[in-house]
This record gives sequence, C-alpha cells and structure tokens, in this order.
Amino acid sequence: MMYIIDSANLEKIRECVEFYPVAGVTTNPTIISREKTDFISLIKSIREIIGPDRMLHIQTTALEAGQIIKEAVALKEIVGGDFYIKIPVGPEGLKATMALKKMGIKVTETAIFTQQQAMLAAIAGADFVAPYVNRLDNIVSDGVHVVGEIVEMFKQHNISSKVLAASFKTVEQVHKIAMVGGHAVTINTELFHTLTYHPLTQYAIDDFIVDWESCYGKTDILGLIDQSK
Ligand code: E4P
Repeated sequence: MMYIIDSANLEKIRECVEFYPVAGVTTNPTIISREKTDFISLIKSIREIIGPDRMLHIQTTALEAGQIIKEAVALKEIVGGDFYIKIPVGPEGLKATMALKKMGIKVTETAIFTQQQAMLAAIAGADFVAPYVNRLDNIVSDGVHVVGEIVEMFKQHNISSKVLAASFKTVEQVHKIAMVGGHAVTINTELFHTLTYHPLTQYAIDDFIVDWESCYGKTDILGLIDQSK
C-alpha cells in the first residue's frame, strides 16, 4: 500500500519525506489555500522537496472540461515529474478525463462517494480514484465498506485503476483500508506520526536504554566499537 501526504505545507512535507516511506503528495484547493502564499511557487517548491519520481497530485479549479484540460496541461508543464491532475468526478470531469488520457496526462478522479462514480471514473481512464472515507463516515455511511466494494469491483472487472483512499481522521480508518485492499491512502502529516506511535513501543525503547546503560554506562554501540580499536 502506498502512503501519500495530504498537505501543501512545505515544512510538514519536508519532515514526512525525511522520516516516512512516502509515495507522493496530494493537494486540493482547500489545502492549498491554507498556506496563503503564491500558488505557482508553492507547487514548484513541493516538487523540489519530493523530487521528480514521487507522485504530485494537484487539483483543478475549473468546472468545464475544456478549462480542466487546459489547467492540466499547464500544471504538468509547471511541476513536471510524476504529475497527476486531480479532477472532481462528474460529467465535465469524466469528459476531461477521457481527453486527458488520450493526451498521455495521468488523472486522479476525486471527491468520490459512491462505487458507481468510481466505476465510471475508472472506465473513463482515471489512474486513481479517490473515495473520501471520513466524509462518508461523517454522514453515517461506511467509508471502508465503499472502498472495499470499489477494490472488489475493479478486481472482478479486471480494471487497472487504483484506489487512493482519502479523507482520514483515525489510525483505525487507515488500517481498515489496508485490510480491504486499498492501493493507497493520502493522510495528513499528524496522522503519519499517530500511525507510528504507541506508548508500549516508547516504554520498550526507554527500558532497553535503561538496561543498556546499567551495564555499559552512557556509551552507545559505536562508542564501544571505538574503544575496542
Ligand atoms: C484528498 O485528496 C482529499 O481532498 C482530502 O483527503 C479530503 O480530506 P478531508 O475530508 O479531511 O478534507
């Protein structure tokens, strides 16, 4: 499963890329607007931090297919590397997706809430479909169930589009997506930290250090190797 950073904050992206096995970055207009800075230099800086080989998904703000296509072409030119245009699902989005695929531009169909939206997006040629797990949970639906059915449906119909689950608040949601075969999750940087933390892990690490130091003092392994030379 791929882990993707759902953020446009340069410091947080830099930190995540340093410490976690990150496959790329996703943004949307809300995430971008939180940074309150020049859009073009922001997306160029994200590309600089993550390098050309990690995925960068940037969402269109256009609502009409012709404009979506123009934005996709321009954004690909600006950020280069492994670029995906994120397009909200709908008639104009699907029309743009079909055209962009012919032009060789990769597409992530986003704001997906139903299995059939995902199916149509995939058949239109989307490389990724992005169902919103937490927003589904919030309306007393079941985000994990929807993602699981999309994964299963793609398998049954031999569809190569991947499921990039988005909108997460908890470790439990991320874990359940892994268990139903989601191909990727996009999560904020705080959730990366929460996924890796467990108090018993910290307790175990503290214990190892106490035991080690009771025998060897404050010297670590490299210190002992140096002493033995
Ligand atoms: C990602 O691409 C989505 O836009 C994002 O995960 C939505 O998350 P939210 O529901 O927390 O805003």
